[in-house]
Amino acid sequence: MDTKSIPLHPSEVTPKDQYLSRRDFLKQAGIVTAGAALLAACGTSADETPVTPVPQNLSADQETSSLFKELTAEESILSYNNYYEFSTDKERVAKLSKDFQSSPWTIEVGGLVNNPQNFSIEEILGNFSIEERIYRMRCVEAWSMVIPWNGFPLAELLKAVDPTPDAKFVRFETLADPDQMPGLSNGLYPWPYQEGLRLDEALNDLTILSTGLYGETLASQNGAPIRLVVPWKYGFKSIKSIVKIELTAEQPSTFWEDIAPKEYGFYANVNPEIDHPRWSQASERRIGELQRRDTLPFNGYAEEVAHLYEGMDPATLY
Ligand code: MTE
Repeated sequence: MDTKSIPLHPSEVTPKDQYLSRRDFLKQAGIVTAGAALLAACGTSADETPVTPVPQNLSADQETSSLFKELTAEESILSYNNYYEFSTDKERVAKLSKDFQSSPWTIEVGGLVNNPQNFSIEEILGNFSIEERIYRMRCVEAWSMVIPWNGFPLAELLKAVDPTPDAKFVRFETLADPDQMPGLSNGLYPWPYQEGLRLDEALNDLTILSTGLYGETLASQNGAPIRLVVPWKYGFKSIKSIVKIELTAEQPSTFWEDIAPKEYGFYANVNPEIDHPRWSQASERRIGELQRRDTLPFNGYAEEVAHLYEGMDPATLY
């Protein structure tokens, strides 16, 4: 595939031992330790260390190998999480979610479709061919990671339910089980967590449903057993532990837009030129690195997705 997005096809999947040796390399280089030290200093909003620009305008091949080299250590992906159903403290999510029951699991897919279906997670794993995609993930809080996801295009699942011509948006919902998710006792948040995409965004090849990362089944803290990944948007769009997908005619409400519409819009496309009202989005802190990087328009995926927004005012896409 001749894109900068780096979807890898099954033939290109990196064997796990290579990941593990990459991880060992990071450990030996002390990068994991440096990353861990930074985490404690971060908090939930942007920090303001000086920006060191990274090389840009790489060719697709250069970009592929450069993204592979940038992989975030598995330990960091598993231990620094936003998952408010468990905790607002990123470093407590893994512990609080360790007994989360992600099996049995069913996703209900319906709304404006000709063929509504309930899929068990086993049916999903059996019916769709899982590939690997190494994507940047950029949180709205101005930190980022590079994650080797395992998953399949959301478009495949949508094809199976056959949207009607009236379907224009896709709405997603996370499980809300107060017995398992202590964060739900915080009544200030509009549970369940919900998200949405325009149908053409949902059908874009970069948009995947993920069932694993680093070749392992998805951990609870990362959204087991299945979560969305939309790499050109801020991370809050990538909703975890999905139980419901619904095709709609109207733009759905989303969790963060309901809470603070001026801070977190429906589109949430990564844009270094449009600041969050409380911090700059021009640069980001890559977990495991010491210096900041410039944030890329559409998180580096402009070639694949900028056309979706032609003629729209960028200010409305934040
Ligand atoms: N999905 C649900 N259900 N609840 C959440 O709190 N947090 C979002 C997103 N999906 C969140 C969620 C945010 S803000 C980010 S940055 C990513 O998940 C973080 O994903 P990760 O913990 O796997 O890195």
